[in-house]
Amino acid sequence: MANLNSLLRDLDAQMREDGNWGEPANYIPELARVDPAQFGITVVTADGKVFSAGDTDTLFSVQSITKVFTLAIALGRSGDQLWKRVGREPSGRAFNSIVQLEREEGRPRNPFINAGAIVTTDEVLDGRAPRDALAEIIQFIRSAAGSNEIHINEAVAASETEHGHRNFALAHFLASFNNLKSTPEMTLGTYFHHCAVEMTTTQLAHAGRFLMGVPKMSRLVSMARVRRLNALMLTCGHYDGSGDFAYRVGIPGKSGVGGGILAIVPGKASVAVWSPGLNTYGNSNKGTEALALLARKMNWSIF
Ligand code: DON
Repeated sequence: MANLNSLLRDLDAQMREDGNWGEPANYIPELARVDPAQFGITVVTADGKVFSAGDTDTLFSVQSITKVFTLAIALGRSGDQLWKRVGREPSGRAFNSIVQLEREEGRPRNPFINAGAIVTTDEVLDGRAPRDALAEIIQFIRSAAGSNEIHINEAVAASETEHGHRNFALAHFLASFNNLKSTPEMTLGTYFHHCAVEMTTTQLAHAGRFLMGVPKMSRLVSMARVRRLNALMLTCGHYDGSGDFAYRVGIPGKSGVGGGILAIVPGKASVAVWSPGLNTYGNSNKGTEALALLARKMNWSIF
């Protein structure tokens, strides 16, 4: 993979060329303030080599990407019990949609749409204080990344709490169907805080190593579970843009509304890309574009 360095450098230059960055998320004021003209990409390969280009040392809000980590923890805590509360099917709807939740009687379609991630967080929280659940989540992410320099941005968590009307609606809806164990306030407090974790692409690519399914990279999660997490990332990781992402990129990925994407080439690499401008699905515009080009150049596809 000697050419990966120059490939990423070319990709970075190409992404900066047309200036068509798009707009950052506007429903969380702290995220709306981020300069969209930024791009960074880091690849960690199965043999531990690191390749990168662009803004790879800038912290960004990982948001929904943390849903992969909380799902791994929830499955570790309660195994298949979680699936009684959340489905495993693509939703074909926006990440924050509420319509399906009523029709399907309070059981969210999958653990990556907001309603499903709120239930997953509720499972991680069950029986303890939000502080203790968050400590486990942060510890999991730090172990995965191999870095203790990973923190929650309190201003982002506060900003989302203040403006999180949709998520409050979803959480109360879930509670009305008896699909929340803790109060909506406690579960959402935990959810908003784990979404507000900040990382660089370098840290995030390292945090994704356990998803490669290469035993010597990480034993945080069993191989069987890694495969299942990847299956969910492929089918549901980009919400109503999941089919398009699978078509264009061809590998499992999880996006966040902060503009990050964690993409996994099973057995080969963990890739983190970040650019805050979003496409119509709420996924990183340049991030998706860069991953499509990279996957094609590297011949990376699970198909
Ligand atoms: O709940 C929310 O709306 C945010 N904390 C996370 C959403 C998100 O990242 C969607 N991803 N593209």
